[in-house]
Amino acid sequence: MPRAGILGTGAALPEKVITNADMEKLVDTSDEWITTRTGIKERRQAGPHETTSQLSIQAARKALEMAGVSPTDLDLIICSTISPDMPLPSTSAFIQRGLGAPACCAFDLAAACSGFLFGMTVAEQFILTGKAKYVLVVGAELLSRYIDYSDRSTCVIFGDGVAAGVLGPATPPSGILAAEMHTEGAFADHLYIPAGGTRKPASCETVRAREHYIKMRGNELFKVAVRSLEEVSRRVLDKAQVSAQQIDLFIPHQANQRITDAVRERLGVSAEKVYSNIARVGNTSSASIPICLDECVRSGRLKKGDLVLMAAFGAGVTWGGILMRW
Ligand code: ACO
Repeated sequence: MPRAGILGTGAALPEKVITNADMEKLVDTSDEWITTRTGIKERRQAGPHETTSQLSIQAARKALEMAGVSPTDLDLIICSTISPDMPLPSTSAFIQRGLGAPACCAFDLAAACSGFLFGMTVAEQFILTGKAKYVLVVGAELLSRYIDYSDRSTCVIFGDGVAAGVLGPATPPSGILAAEMHTEGAFADHLYIPAGGTRKPASCETVRAREHYIKMRGNELFKVAVRSLEEVSRRVLDKAQVSAQQIDLFIPHQANQRITDAVRERLGVSAEKVYSNIARVGNTSSASIPICLDECVRSGRLKKGDLVLMAAFGAGVTWGGILMRW
């Protein structure tokens, strides 16, 4: 059976660091609360002139270089983002233009924090059916633009960041072994931005009411997250007939260190096999998993032949999992 795999990765983080001490100056919070409740110590914030597509282009160039693939060889560009440059056109169009890629298909995908894994799964279908050879998948979020810095329940959690992967044909045993995608719209109001869409177009009133910012039911999401991450991990492991103990590396979406710890314990994966960078970057939504992946590849933590399990959940709610052999 032919397989699709990741040929190269790259990441781009804004330079500006916002520490928990900085957060203490903005809202009624403490380093102690943020650290013990979330595991986050600092996060990045894009400058006023940085855009989702600019950082995406930087990350994509690094991924293409590692893959040894030219932008002109790309057949498809998928940008997973819920914080696009503009409502129209797609951020992927700006990425395509910035990279100098040909007039291949390029579109955005909105699945929040699960978006990179959804994007990888879509890319896999194109590669396996022969519709595409090389696919660029970007996970890109500048959520700081949608964060209410007077709402302590959300502003401490999210950070900005972008990462990309170049997918293409892989030689077995390497490549994607199993993938799953799910959405449960019944929980759509657990995490949302009320205004700016067709339900509530932007107006002076929506701005005054701070309705262009993320609203979150953190407590409810926490429970859904633990349940869905465990379930989707088990499903991809079962599909590939691999036990949780056999995996070499587990990269969960970096939402909350307590969520990661709970899922790890339920799956029976040992702590040293779990990758976490939440202390340094916070929750970067769809960039979370590819940033981790890029750090693991570049530091040598992920080696050829390793079995890596990735699992994510996000607004929608969405959840997805991928098991691959590197
Ligand atoms: N500093 C101090 N106190 C705070 C803060 C803060 N930053 N935020 C909330 N609190 C307070 C609350 O007001 C509450 O006070 P009260 O008891 O007087 O009412 C108390 O802390 C406990 O609040 P909880 O919401 O119960 O705290 P919890 O332990 O659940 O932690 C958190 C909150 C961190 C948001 C957690 O629920 C969580 O991580 N949930 C998952 C959220 C998530 O992952 N969202 C992203 C989804 S992915 C995507 O698609 C973008």
